[in-house]
Amino acid sequence: MKEAQLIAAGLVKDVQEGSNLSKIFQKHTKKNKINQKNKAQIKDLVYGTLRSYGKTKFIINKLVKRPPSNLLILNLLHVALFQLISNRSNSYTVVDQIVSASNMVSKSHTGFINGVLRTFLRKKETLLEESQNVLEAKYSYPIWWINQIKTEYPKAWQNILDVGNSHPALIIRVNLRKTSINKYAKKLETQNVEHLLLGYEAILIKKPMQIDSLPGFNEGEVSIQDYGAQLAAHLLDLKKNHTVLDACSAPGGKACHMVEIQDIKLTAVEVDKQRVERINENLNRLGHSFKVINDAVNVKNSWHDKKSFDRVLLDVPCSASGIVRRHIDIKWLRRFSDLKYFHEKQFDLLKASWKLLKGEGKLLYVTCSIFNVENRMVVDRFLKEEKTANEIKIKFPKNVNVADNQLLPSLAHDGLFYALLQKE
Ligand SMILES: C[S@@+](CC[C@H](N)C(=O)[O-])C[C@H]1O[C@@H](n2cnc3c(N)ncnc32)[C@H](O)[C@@H]1O
Repeated sequence: MKEAQLIAAGLVKDVQEGSNLSKIFQKHTKKNKINQKNKAQIKDLVYGTLRSYGKTKFIINKLVKRPPSNLLILNLLHVALFQLISNRSNSYTVVDQIVSASNMVSKSHTGFINGVLRTFLRKKETLLEESQNVLEAKYSYPIWWINQIKTEYPKAWQNILDVGNSHPALIIRVNLRKTSINKYAKKLETQNVEHLLLGYEAILIKKPMQIDSLPGFNEGEVSIQDYGAQLAAHLLDLKKNHTVLDACSAPGGKACHMVEIQDIKLTAVEVDKQRVERINENLNRLGHSFKVINDAVNVKNSWHDKKSFDRVLLDVPCSASGIVRRHIDIKWLRRFSDLKYFHEKQFDLLKASWKLLKGEGKLLYVTCSIFNVENRMVVDRFLKEEKTANEIKIKFPKNVNVADNQLLPSLAHDGLFYALLQKE
């Protein structure tokens, strides 16, 4: 256990210092050739620790006058406290193992770690009770995030924060070019994989499983994609032979979905070269082909051949606050000031991609954010300025938790925002 605790503490430390968790996790596990089982154990520890970081920080501040300046030691404490709070392992084993782990980092800190954790175990109930009275400790988000959600969702804020701390369900999209929903559901039944049909091509897998153990995954019969994200291809009202631009495409989930449900001529544009690779991987696995351009949508649009599009999907970069349960590092990486930056970038992308749309064409604006400043505020600012743009009312499926085009995170879907605009 101590090796996993040590690696987990190192990764949590890196996130607290500004690193993206998926990137460092992949890099670390590849470099150190960590096997699947140990990878799962480390992931569980890192995710759990980051999920409850506000609470463990509160506890450390209660128990320690001056937290250690050695950040690896400090984060070993966070990992151990998460383990002790979640009660998933024997508490004496957790303490014993973390003390051994700290011995590998700094011998002079073993007594300190041991002392703090044993005091915690003695005062556990009182400390956990006290943590319920402090918002950052109760919900484990930065206070600016809690205040923002509280202001924007006066009724649903607690639920939104709780969902963000829950384990996300595994949701897949059936590739209609290879199979059908019914055929694929039968395959799942035959293999005793419990599931629920959500709507369109979306199926929720009830128990967590390895992605490549899903029947037909390597053959491209299914992809991993949230149900909320799967609405995009359907909301765009795609017709046969439409020319379609996917303006911010990587990793290509929505692009692949669009070509799976309609015969369209798709152009995918993505600014990030490495992320273009991810589109190509998806194309290869799923057996699709469409034009992929590694360039930027911007005022110049220098890649564009002057032929405007019938449809534009604009899935803009955003805070990702609506998918925090899948990317738990986000809540500790984002700053309040990032929202203003995203708003400006999103507005510029909307203006730049609007120019590429035909008269009477439709543009779908999408974010995976639950902050208004990236959603309704961008669209309303654009509608005020752009006289050729009108908003079309979207009819969402009944099993989607939505208010004013904002999907609120729930079991079946993430927190996304959609706005459908039509050009005069
Ligand atoms: C939210 S992600 C898109 C997700 C994608 N639509 C999907 O469903 O898989 C936004 C993407 O936009 C890309 N991007 C950011 N600015 C861009 C620009 N000016 N032009 C093209 N792509 C851009 C980012 O690199 C990122 O890959």
